[in-house]
Amino acid sequence: MKIAYASRTGNVESIVNQLDLESIHISSGTETIDEPYILFTYTDGWGDVPFEVETFLEINDPSLLQGVVASGDYSYGEAYCLAGDKIAEAYGVEVLYRVENAGTQEDLEAIRNVIE
Ligand SMILES: Cc1cc2nc3c(=O)[nH]c(=O)nc-3n(C[C@H](O)[C@H](O)[C@H](O)COP(=O)(O)O)c2cc1C
Repeated sequence: MKIAYASRTGNVESIVNQLDLESIHISSGTETIDEPYILFTYTDGWGDVPFEVETFLEINDPSLLQGVVASGDYSYGEAYCLAGDKIAEAYGVEVLYRVENAGTQEDLEAIRNVIE
């Protein structure tokens, strides 16, 4: 399964790099994808979907999105990883996993299992 990911400060990128799967980095949001993929994203603002991720989702075929893995920080309380929940609701997919920052080895294992 291909991965498309957004990462501003490197946490999501470090997770994706450890998965050893084909991936594309969403940077401006104008990147295109033409095969099924899982989206990995950080959470911005107060539970917000990063701007570049919104753009990426708008310009690409929504039927290719298979699920979302969201990264956040517990200190945001109710807004923890909410970007994932918002995308899941808008696109009718599941939040496959919520991970704090760059995650632990346990998180990595769990993510590997859930995206298999
Ligand atoms: C300005 C800013 C706003 C954030 N807002 C949230 C938030 O609302 N909810 C949350 O769970 N995490 C929030 N975070 C935490 C990041 O989503 C989290 O650290 C994530 O791992 C960053 O991923 P990245 O290093 O790949 O960019 C915020 C971080 C920053 C810097």
